[in-house]
Amino acid sequence: MSDSITPPSTIDVKTPHSESPPKFALLELSHISKYFGNVTALEDISTHVDAGAVTCVLGDNGAGKSTFIKILSGVHQQSTGDYLIDGTPVHFSSPRDARLAGIATVFQDLAMSPLLSVWRNFFMGSEAMVGPFLKANFMRNTAKSEMKKMGIDVRDIDQPVGTMSGGERQSVAIARAVYFGARVLILDEPTAALGVRQSGVVLKYVRAAADRGLGVIFITHNPHHAYPVGDRFMLLNRGHSLGDFAKSEITRDELTRLMAGGAELEALQHELSQSR
Ligand SMILES: Nc1ncnc2c1ncn2[C@@H]1O[C@H](COP(=O)(O)OP(=O)(O)O)[C@@H](O)[C@H]1O
Ligand SMILES: [Mg+2]
Repeated sequence: MSDSITPPSTIDVKTPHSESPPKFALLELSHISKYFGNVTALEDISTHVDAGAVTCVLGDNGAGKSTFIKILSGVHQQSTGDYLIDGTPVHFSSPRDARLAGIATVFQDLAMSPLLSVWRNFFMGSEAMVGPFLKANFMRNTAKSEMKKMGIDVRDIDQPVGTMSGGERQSVAIARAVYFGARVLILDEPTAALGVRQSGVVLKYVRAAADRGLGVIFITHNPHHAYPVGDRFMLLNRGHSLGDFAKSEITRDELTRLMAGGAELEALQHELSQSR
């Protein structure tokens, strides 16, 4: 029997469900625009994030980064364009809707109580109770072990969160989102107020969250923070996209140059508007 001709088989052994790549991105933004009256905050913005990946959104002040996250997290609704999760359009009318869909947002101010312990902050608003009593030991142990799973070694889980460094506080917020089952983690400039060393610590946890399977959206104005942890890069300039690149499509130098170009354009526009 000749084996030289293999007829197209009707039995395809190569595509069991579990092995085929996901058909849809975890989260996708397609041609999103946002207008506040006649102010255009965002115009025709598209990107996506996959589970286990980090999408970085880069831009200078006023670029539209906060507006973008506020749409993702249900604070604002887009004026036009589509917001899809697993390929299905979603319409969030509140931050609660977004949270219920598994979107966790860590805003810059973190919304923590500085005088309360690390574990109290970890469980804030979702305390484990037996009747009217806090399950304090359970929460202490869980907070400690969950943070350990992320590679975070908290010396004292009872220490007031306000005594931690900025980077450590960010890590508490990240570990909390992972523990409470977020699918998407959005971080608003988590390294903006930090020094080099602390930034490095936070970047490690950004990557750790993706390695735990979350889709992470990391907002920053620093290409040197974005490039090492990012899988995808979307650049914003005055509400417009300068491009949406997979890591294989852009080098660190190109990313840096594009960001610098955006800043120059900004300065030029400012100069022009002044000399009129
Ligand atoms: N609620 C709002 N009403 C009117 N304009 C807004 C509002 N929010 C943001 N903007 C405008 O949209 C633009 C983008 O702002 P923002 O998203 O905060 O940028 P970024 O976070 O990158 O600094 C700015 O010009 C800002 O003034
Ligand atoms: Mg902002």
